[in-house]
Amino acid sequence: MADLTLTGKNPTQLSADALVVGTCSTSDGVAVVADQLPASVVERIETLAPRLGVTGALQEVRTVPAGDGVAADVLVLAGLGERQEDGTFDREALRAAAGSAVRSLAGSASAVVALPAIDESELGAVVEGALLGAYSYTAYRDAKAAAKQTPVGTLQVATSFARTARAKAAVARAEVLAAAVHGARDLVNTPPNVLYPASFADAARTAVKELGAKGVKVTVLDDKQLAAGGYGGLTGVGQGSARGPRLVKLTYSPAKATGKVALVGKGITFDTGGISIKPAAGMDSMKSDMAGAAAVLHTVVAAARLGLPVAVTGYLCLAENMPGGNAQRPADVVTIRGGKTVEVLNTDAEGRLVMADGLVSAVEDGHDVVLDIATLTGAQMVALGRRVSAVMGTEDVRDEVKVAADTVGEQFWPMPLPDELAEGLRSKVADIANVGERWGGMLAAGLFLRSFIEGTPWAHLDIAGPAYNEKGAFGYTPAGGTGVGVRTMLGFLESRAGVES
Ligand code: BES
Ligand code: MN
Ligand code: ZN
Repeated sequence: MADLTLTGKNPTQLSADALVVGTCSTSDGVAVVADQLPASVVERIETLAPRLGVTGALQEVRTVPAGDGVAADVLVLAGLGERQEDGTFDREALRAAAGSAVRSLAGSASAVVALPAIDESELGAVVEGALLGAYSYTAYRDAKAAAKQTPVGTLQVATSFARTARAKAAVARAEVLAAAVHGARDLVNTPPNVLYPASFADAARTAVKELGAKGVKVTVLDDKQLAAGGYGGLTGVGQGSARGPRLVKLTYSPAKATGKVALVGKGITFDTGGISIKPAAGMDSMKSDMAGAAAVLHTVVAAARLGLPVAVTGYLCLAENMPGGNAQRPADVVTIRGGKTVEVLNTDAEGRLVMADGLVSAVEDGHDVVLDIATLTGAQMVALGRRVSAVMGTEDVRDEVKVAADTVGEQFWPMPLPDELAEGLRSKVADIANVGERWGGMLAAGLFLRSFIEGTPWAHLDIAGPAYNEKGAFGYTPAGGTGVGVRTMLGFLESRAGVES
């Protein structure tokens, strides 16, 4: 991760490859938003803005020669959009501007960031955006290509709060949070021949150890233990692959916990659809079908690193959905942990099968609240597009997730669980079928999951679209794995722990 420090020095006097300043759109053009830039530089940019094509729009990034009186080589003009009524900028605008600017600096060694922040909370947003934007996945690139993509090495963030305890705490939190998001992105980006259930379980152990998540205990059930333990969802989905399923349990239980939260993540390391096989076009993106489990792993790690006073158990439901000779068939009946039977009418609706085992485990272990997160349905993208995730569940928990998402700057939208759609999940031979009618497919999947939570307060996060960015990078979000859900779940835990996000 980029090495980030706060500085109270005049940013124009700091030598670096680039100095990042803000621009915004105003009623009469463009304003440069940076306290200590020489007036001559500000005037030059504001006057030339129309000819430079600079508008100050959110996420606009333009690089111009720095000019006299600035020690850095170039100025990076990062658009912040319009000011709010009180003259400040929205925290998400600050994150996005910082992220876009830092992304544009890939391949450079150093930069100074001088974006406006009127308090430590806004400063925290700038730092978060900068660190989230400083990401690349180059594991399989040659050295030359990797160097070009490598995020800027050192970042100095100029602020008048450089020495306050709150500012230091905001940086420390942002570093843990960004490491968690980066960790989740890395797992999603890892090719599916390399990341399979057993290697994911190893990666969980490594992440806990290497990130110093003290007090997190990792236990792994392998395919034999899952079959013996009656985890029929994981077993059924995993049996078509030569690489068997795993259930990883991560336990963080601090001494003075204010509550006990379960996080259950879908970890299909590759989803071919199984015997109900998917079309070839675009199937490669199904390496991201473990994004929920990746988010859970790194949320638990982050909660432990931050020492949040709330107990958290993570469940990673890991399997590879392949159409091998022993694969489950449409019409098979599997028995989920705890005894409920499911008729598998479509082997491509595998996520809900593995999640059912995870939810039952979470309920068995006793928690105040259960959150589950999954790239569960294509219908999620039909309903909300590629960037907005859905949240369903017990109304108050659903709304609590929405508040957490708004606070941290992730887009989630509440969706209903209409009882009548449950009728579509009736099976002629088992307790429930794994698919219902097509319309409202995301909600039907939510209703399926609800039938396993036994009245525990619960929310289901469907991140099918937002987990994997198939288009270009934007703001602080790279192409590929996005790490979505980590910040919302961490915000949820912070709020349960009575800590500010
Ligand atoms: N992993 C997919 C859902 C998905 C689709 C995630 C596109 C991300 C992008 C899931 O396992 C799946 O295949 N769902 C089916 C369910 C259907 C068979 C009821 C779907 O959405 O088509
Ligand atoms: Mn599927
Ligand atoms: Zn899937």
